[in-house]
Amino acid sequence: MRKPVVLITGANGEIGHGLIAHLARVPDVNVVALDLKPLDERLRPSCAAALVGDILDANLLQRLISEYEVHAIYHLAALLSTRSEYTPDTAHRVNVEGTINLLRLAHEQARWHGNPVKFLFPSSVAVYGLPSAETKVKSGRVRESEFNFPTTMYGCNKLYCEHLGRYFTRHYRQLAAERSASGVDFRAIRFPGLISAVTVPAGGTSDYAPEMIHAGAQGQPYSCFVAEQARLPFMAMPDGIKALVSLASAPTGSLAQCVYNVGSFSLSAAEIRDRVVKAFPGAKIRFEVDPPRAAIVDTWPADVDDSAARREWNWRPDYDADRAFNEYLIPTISDYYRRRA
Ligand code: NAD
Ligand code: SER
Repeated sequence: MRKPVVLITGANGEIGHGLIAHLARVPDVNVVALDLKPLDERLRPSCAAALVGDILDANLLQRLISEYEVHAIYHLAALLSTRSEYTPDTAHRVNVEGTINLLRLAHEQARWHGNPVKFLFPSSVAVYGLPSAETKVKSGRVRESEFNFPTTMYGCNKLYCEHLGRYFTRHYRQLAAERSASGVDFRAIRFPGLISAVTVPAGGTSDYAPEMIHAGAQGQPYSCFVAEQARLPFMAMPDGIKALVSLASAPTGSLAQCVYNVGSFSLSAAEIRDRVVKAFPGAKIRFEVDPPRAAIVDTWPADVDDSAARREWNWRPDYDADRAFNEYLIPTISDYYRRRA
C-alpha cells in the first residue's frame, strides 16, 4: 500500500518553513517535502520524507508517485520576481513547465485513487501591472479582474499558471468524446509581500521590507532600493499560512472562482523604516533607489480588494500592521539575533 501524503514543493523556502510547522500540528497528515536544496534539519522530523530534487525532473516525479499516493499539493517551488528577471528563460521553465508537471501529476493521481487532488498555488500581486504611479494612487485596492498586464517574467508566469490551473479544474479536455473531470481542484491565492520573522528572503522584489527589519535588528546598515513613498501590500507569514490552509479546507461548493486576493496591511517604505527605527534605535537605513527594481514595485498595487475571499471562505487576517510588528516581527526577530549573539 502506498502512503497517502500531502506533497509540498519548494518546501525549504520561506512559506515551506511555516507550512510544514503548521501541518506538523494537524493529526493524520503525512508531508512529503521536495526541494532543490536539502530540507532544513529542524523541519525533517515533521515530514514523512524529504526529497532533494528538481520539479523539472520527470524521473524524480515518477519515482515519487511510485512510492506515495498524493492527495493534496502545495506547489510552492518557483523563482521569485527579481531572480526571474535576471534569468527569464530559466524562470519560465521552473515557474511554468514546473507547474504543468505538477498539474499533470495531480491529474494522474486523481485518476489513480479516484478522489480529487487539491492543488494550492501561491500566486502574487506581481500578476498586476499598473500603468503609472498616478493610476496606482487612484486605484487603491484592486480587484482580481483589474490590471492583469504584468511587466515581469515572474508576473506573466504566475498569471498564466493561474489560467492553466483553472483550465485543468474547469475545462480539461473539453472536446474528448467521453469527457471526464481532470480531478484537479486548483485554488490560488495572490499573495502580497510576505514577511517572516524566522527566515530571510532572497530573489524577490518586495524583499526590501524584510531586509530592512532583519538588518535593523542586527544593527547593520541597510540601503533600500525603492523610494520612501513606494507602497505595497504586505502580510505577516502566519497569516500567509492561515490563508493557504483556510482556502485548502473551504468546501468546493462555496468557491465561485479559482483565484483570490488576500489583504492584510499596506505600508510605504518610509512607514516601514519608521517602525524599524522605533524598535531598533541603532538601525541605519537610507534610501538609494535602484530605478529598474523600483519601477517594478510601481506596477504592483498599493493594496488589494479581498472581498471575494472574505465572502466565500471567510478570510480574515489575524495581523494588522501594528500587531504584525509589535507581536510577531519585532519580538521574534529580536529574540533570534539575541540568542545568536
Ligand atoms: P522561496 O524562494 O523562499 O522558496 C522557494 C523554494 O523553491 C526554494 O527553497 C527553492 O530551493 C525551491 N525551488 C526553486 N526551484 C526549484 C525547482 N526547480 N525544483 C524544486 N525546488 C525548487 O520562496 P517563498 O517565499 O517560500 O515562496 C514560495 C511560493 O510563494 C513561490 O511560488 C512564490 O512565488 C510564492 N509567493 C511568495 C511571496 C513572498 O512574498 N514570499 C509572495 C507571493 C507569492
Ligand atoms: N514577494 C514576491 C517577490 O517580490 C512576489 O510574489 O518576488
